[in-house]
Order: sequence, then structure tokens, then C-alpha cells
Amino acid sequence: MCGIIGYVGTRPALPILIEGLRRLEYRGYDSAGIALAQGGKVEVTKSAGRISVLEQRLDFALPQATGIGHTRWATHGAPTDLNAHPHLDASGKIAVIHNGIIENDRALRTYLERQGVQFKSETDTEVIAQLVGHFYAGDLEKAVRQALHEVSGTFGIAVVCADEPDVVVAARQGSPLIIGVGQHEHILASDAAAILAHTSQVVYMGDGQIARITRDDFRLTTLDAIPVAKEVEEIEWSLEEIELGGHEHFMHKEIFEQPDALANCLRGRIDVREGMVHLGGLVDCARELVRAKRIILTACGTAWHAALVGEYLFEELARIPTETEYASEFRYRNPIIDDGTIVMAVSQSGETADTIAALTEAKQRGALTLGVVNTVGSTLARGTDAGVFLHVGPEIGVASTKAFTGQVAVLSLIACYVGRRRHLSTAAAAQFISALAEIPAQIRSMLEQADDAKTVAERYAGLDNWLYLGRGYNYPVALEGALKLKEISYIHAEGLPAAEMKHGPIALITEGMPVVVIATSGSQYDKIMNNISEVRARGGSVIAIATEGDREIKKIAEHVIFVPDTVEPLQPLLTSVPLQLIAYHAAVIRGCNVDKPRNLAKSVTVE
Ligand code: F6R
Repeated sequence: MCGIIGYVGTRPALPILIEGLRRLEYRGYDSAGIALAQGGKVEVTKSAGRISVLEQRLDFALPQATGIGHTRWATHGAPTDLNAHPHLDASGKIAVIHNGIIENDRALRTYLERQGVQFKSETDTEVIAQLVGHFYAGDLEKAVRQALHEVSGTFGIAVVCADEPDVVVAARQGSPLIIGVGQHEHILASDAAAILAHTSQVVYMGDGQIARITRDDFRLTTLDAIPVAKEVEEIEWSLEEIELGGHEHFMHKEIFEQPDALANCLRGRIDVREGMVHLGGLVDCARELVRAKRIILTACGTAWHAALVGEYLFEELARIPTETEYASEFRYRNPIIDDGTIVMAVSQSGETADTIAALTEAKQRGALTLGVVNTVGSTLARGTDAGVFLHVGPEIGVASTKAFTGQVAVLSLIACYVGRRRHLSTAAAAQFISALAEIPAQIRSMLEQADDAKTVAERYAGLDNWLYLGRGYNYPVALEGALKLKEISYIHAEGLPAAEMKHGPIALITEGMPVVVIATSGSQYDKIMNNISEVRARGGSVIAIATEGDREIKKIAEHVIFVPDTVEPLQPLLTSVPLQLIAYHAAVIRGCNVDKPRNLAKSVTVE
């Protein structure tokens, strides 16, 4: 969604701001803009559309040492030049960029209009700019503080002022901001990806904090002006990880990164011989976890599908009643949180607004909250009582792939960690862990012969309706396969627990309709074979995902993609991979923008 970049230092600001905006592109945007503070003026340039359009309008000859830049994903007002950020105050001397939503913007707008302010845009952000201008009396930080006291909602903002050309003021409430610390320069961004090219030393701003940033220093205080200690941390991601590295798309790169990503995720956490899982992030709450009476997993989209696998894992391995809730539903339905309820949020970005809101609700009701998060320093990572990072590296492609398998791997680890401390025998845990240890190599071998998925995509990419069926652990994989296909290739696809097909969706099956069935070996194999027969009887074309060595399946499915054998609870880590590839190839064949699918943003920071 929206992205923020800011620069104050000794180098020309403009190339740094543009490069930062390009690094933020993956988050999704529909307009962009830049403000430069110089020579007693603030120069604002902005445009609807791509960053390349903005670039054509910029004057690179201007001297520039301080500036802010923004990519906007429209919420209040259409994606037009006028609504693009930055927004100026009435004097034209103060420029503001903003991520988040101001909830009382109508009331503030009316108040300011009564004071004679004329608004130029339909955005809630302009209210902040006008308010800062309204309070400004020679001290930008003070004016921002006063303005923010009037505002309710979520914000990550950056502000520059013509009269203080060496200063960027930033503030955060519910929308991430990171300050990169360089040599005689500071880079402010809403996402580490925009900072990495310059420095790996960062300070994560906390909620309710304001920063006054200059070339050589910055001051961090609360909204009430109480000083806050700066903690400089090292970003563990490398620049290489956020670049294409020879792949045509980030999604392709990230699918093929899964063997290494999962090896990193498991590194140092499993002891096959002892049948033990070590999770440093859970040590302080191990007692509460082991005694938990109920676990609620909450997430959105792909992360919700991973959580659903987690539900099966926790019940089977840890024997704790578990349910999975859409974060957006959890928050608004007055959930019951008893003593012994643990709420676990699953999220790649750690910035998904609905998931954060669900977590806040759970905290307020007294639950112990845990995070299964990829992004270190994110709001969820900082806001949960404890948790386990995925360590799968940055995910740039909008369609989540390696984060899904990372989430499933971490949930497997946690389930085994708790299970081992409850009912799971050493032998059973050791068997599970040794199967888990094999997964990275198994995915690698699958990816070495990944042509089958391409063949399937070539055959069916022209058809607009697909079904995905799975049972047990592979039911969430069916949902995930369908989501992958629809979000990047715009093909309509439904994922279902296979037995549900008979209760209605079977009516959809017509001659030649592609039906992807996850039919791996295990407790429900015979049942899923029956489902395949039901599809075939109605003329559907079955694409089966089956276990290597299965000879029967070839007789009844049109296409078979084989995956290596593993224990049933870990099958999603393998069966999801060909489905990612089918979606990827289908999108490429249909000429879709794989990494920037229409209407989608990488991280959904509004409810
Ligand atoms: C789909 C996808 C989304 C995200 C969802 C939650 O490919 O990526 O469905 O999974 O928006 O995002 P996170 O995991 O960042 O909370």
C-alpha cells in the first residue's frame, strides 16, 4: 500500500528519493510524489500513475539536500494528481506525506474551513498539512505535535518545511516508520527495503513517537514530548534479497528460494536425535503455552490458509483445541477469551491492519498473544508478547509463496515444541522432526523438474473457471492454490474441502473444467479417489497432485504432478509448491503483471 521515503544528508536527495520509491513500488500504488525543501521554498512534484511519469516532471538540476517522497494507494479520493501526496498547507511552505487513515478528518476539515482554509484535495492527509500550518510558529516539530493531538486514526507521516530546510519531522501511530542511520545522513522509510541500499543500521520508531531528523542526529520523543531512547538495530536482510537476481519476476525467485528459505527457517531450531524443537522466542511463555486450554490463530488471506494448517497441527501434535479466525471477523464479533486462551497472529508483513486490530482486541481481553511473523521490527512483531520469526527473507512478490511455506514450517515447529512438552513421545517427535528436516531438499528436487506445472498451465490457462479440492491437511492447500491462481492470473477459482463438492459446487463441473485435486497418500486417499471419480463422471479434467510412486492415480487423472513422500501433517509444504507454479505460469501465459497484480497491495494496512 502507501510508501514513505525521506532524506536529509549531504548527497542530492532526489536520486535517493526516486530509488526509494522504486523499492516501495512492490507494495502497490496508484500515484506518487516528492517534496524538496530548499531556498526558502518547498517544491512539490506529483502525478497519478507510475513513478516514471513522476520522474519526467522532476527537475534534477535543483539543489536538493532534504526531501520526502510517497507512493499512494488511494483510499480517500481517486488516484489523481491533486490527491497524490505530498500535500501542502495554506502557506505552501509545509509539505506532508502520510500512510494510514485519519478518522476525524471530516470534523477537522469543517473546523479548518471555518478558519478560512481552502482545501485543494479530497484526502484526509491534507487535513494534517493544514493543521500543521495552522499551528506553525517557527518550530516544525512543535507544530506537528500540536496537530497530531487533534487527530485520531492511524498515521506514519513525514513533514518538511521551507523555513527549516535541514529537518524532516516524522511521526508514527499504527503505521510503520524506520530511520536508517548513515554517515552524515538519515533515511526515513516505511519499509526496510527502501533503506537497505544505503545502510543496515536502523531505528524502528514506536507507536506514539515523533522524530526530528537532521543530517547528523535525530531526536526521538513521545507525542507528549517525553524523550525516548534510540535503539539502533541491524537489518538482517541483504540488498541481494530484494533484487530480482536474474529472475523475471519476484514471485518466480521466491518460489525457487523456498529450499534455502525453509532451511534458514529451520536452522538451529531442530534436534532430530533428541526429538526436540528449540524456539528461543517462546522460552519465556513456554509454561503458559504448554498449559493452554485453547489456541486461536488469526490472520488474513494466505496467512489465514497457513493458520488453518496450523489448526490441524496444533490439535494433532499438541492436543490443544484450536480454531482459526479471519482477523477481520475476530475483532468485531465479541470473541470469548477465557483464562488459558492464547491468540496467535500469523503474518508475513506484520503490518496487516486487520491482524493488528485482532491482536489488540485479544490483548485488551487479557489473552497471551504470540506472533508468527516474517518482518523483524514490524508492528505485530513488536506488539505481541512473544513469537517466532519465519526467517525466510523479504517477500517482494505480491502473491505470497515462501512466506506461506515459512508460516506452515514455523507452525509445525511450534506444534511439535508444545506437543513434546505435553503428550508427544520422543520417538513420534523425532520422526516428525526428521521428516521436517528433509523438506528443503525435497522441495529442491521438485523444483529441479518443475515442467509439469508449466504444461498444466499451458493447457488450461485459457479457461476461466477452476476448482481446487483437498482433504485434511491439504484442504487449506486447495484454498491457497485457488487464491494464488485468482490473484495473479484473474482466473476465477474455488478451493474446497473435497467432500463439500457434492453439497453444491458439483453443479459447476462441466466438460473439460480444470479440477486440481490434491490426492497424496495418507488417511484420506481412498476418499479423495472417490472425489476424483465424481469429477470425471461429469466430464471435469482432473489435475492430480500425488505422491511419487502412486501408479493408480495415473489411470484416473488427466495430469499428475508428483511430490515426494512425507508425513501427512507436512504435506502442505510440498503440495503447495506445484500450485504456486501453476498459478505463476498461468499468469505469465495470460500476460498478467505477476508481481503487481491489479488492485492488490503487498501489505494491506487499512481495514
Ligand atoms: C496473497 C497474499 C495475501 C496476504 C494477506 C496477509 O498472496 O499475500 O493474502 O497473505 O494480505 O498478509 P500478511 O501475511 O502480511 O499479514
